[in-house]
Amino acid sequence: MLAILITRKGGPEVLELREIPTPTPASGEVLIRVKAAGLNRSDVYSRTSRSYGSADPAIPGLEVSGTIAACGPGTQRWAPGDEVCALVSGGGYAEYVAVAGGQCLPIPDGWSLEEAASLPETVNTVWDNAFRTGHLKPGENFLVHGGSSGIGATAIQLASAMQIPVYTTAGTDEKCRWCESLGATRAVNYKTQDFEAALKDVAFDLVLDMTGGDYTIKNLHLLRMDGRLVYISAMRGKDAQIDIREIMEKRITITGSMLKPRDTAYKTRLAAEIEAQVWPLIAKGAIKPLVYKTFPLEQAAAAQQLMESSEHRGKILLRVS
Ligand SMILES: NC(=O)c1ccc[n+]([C@@H]2O[C@H](COP(=O)([O-])OP(=O)(O)OC[C@H]3O[C@@H](n4cnc5c(N)ncnc54)[C@H](OP(=O)(O)O)[C@@H]3O)[C@@H](O)[C@H]2O)c1
Repeated sequence: MLAILITRKGGPEVLELREIPTPTPASGEVLIRVKAAGLNRSDVYSRTSRSYGSADPAIPGLEVSGTIAACGPGTQRWAPGDEVCALVSGGGYAEYVAVAGGQCLPIPDGWSLEEAASLPETVNTVWDNAFRTGHLKPGENFLVHGGSSGIGATAIQLASAMQIPVYTTAGTDEKCRWCESLGATRAVNYKTQDFEAALKDVAFDLVLDMTGGDYTIKNLHLLRMDGRLVYISAMRGKDAQIDIREIMEKRITITGSMLKPRDTAYKTRLAAEIEAQVWPLIAKGAIKPLVYKTFPLEQAAAAQQLMESSEHRGKILLRVS
């Protein structure tokens, strides 16, 4: 099969299209013939931060959509020919990928097979961190940074679908208006305004943060009693100042997580919960596909370049077959 490999640590040019053996599904796994693969910032980090030695080059890609081509022993629910989207643990930028059957979900009504490649990573991450860990519920105020990112746009749509007021930050006025068109009550251009000053009259119950660094103390100031601050990345820096007294006074919980290293059992439970809780909202049209641009598989480098430029809003896809 054809796959994009990270041949060494470096810029987008280290991504190369190569012919490699097609994987064989192990027990409990299915083999997906990939229709499309979603891009995620983590794919860029895999390329830029990974130390490559003589080990096999890795195939990036954490989410795909496609058709089941074969089932490994003991696979339940799925059969060859079924159309699915799936969270994968790498390997998505390829014509075929093997994944645990439990990490696959059906294509939501009203979504094309290709569009569904944009769902798994963002929906799993937002559900896991905002709703499971962050305990976000109706009646609360929610702040998510990076509103125009794949993650941010999904968080805005999901919270809005549950009538939860959601506020966000983004790097241009145009991105801010786009976030508001998705349902954000207010989006603040963090490059021209201090978001803490702009949002000081809203008492937040949950902040979902991909920025870290200097935003941390501001997030703490904006949280109300029993507020939660959940980290999914640290794009402004991993080191931060905190005010321990404020954390105690407001009984703030600070936590975070990484989805990629979670085991199959966890991801399977998460997928089942998402199918029960989120798929009905998608079927009602509350969450819409937000595909900014689609590239052919062989142009994965250009696709990652676009992601690194941060010009995009929503999701970037690779069309594989
Ligand atoms: N922990 C997990 O399990 C998990 C899972 C999935 C994703 N993530 C993380 O979530 C983040 C978003 O992922 P994605 O795939 O949706 O990425 P993406 O679409 O490329 O979005 C990145 C976002 O970061 C914002 N940003 C970049 N630099 C910034 C800065 N210095 N200050 C403030 N905002 C900044 C950009 O906003 P502007 O262009 O408006 O500046 C953009 O909205 C990534 O950091 C990713 O690693 C974590």
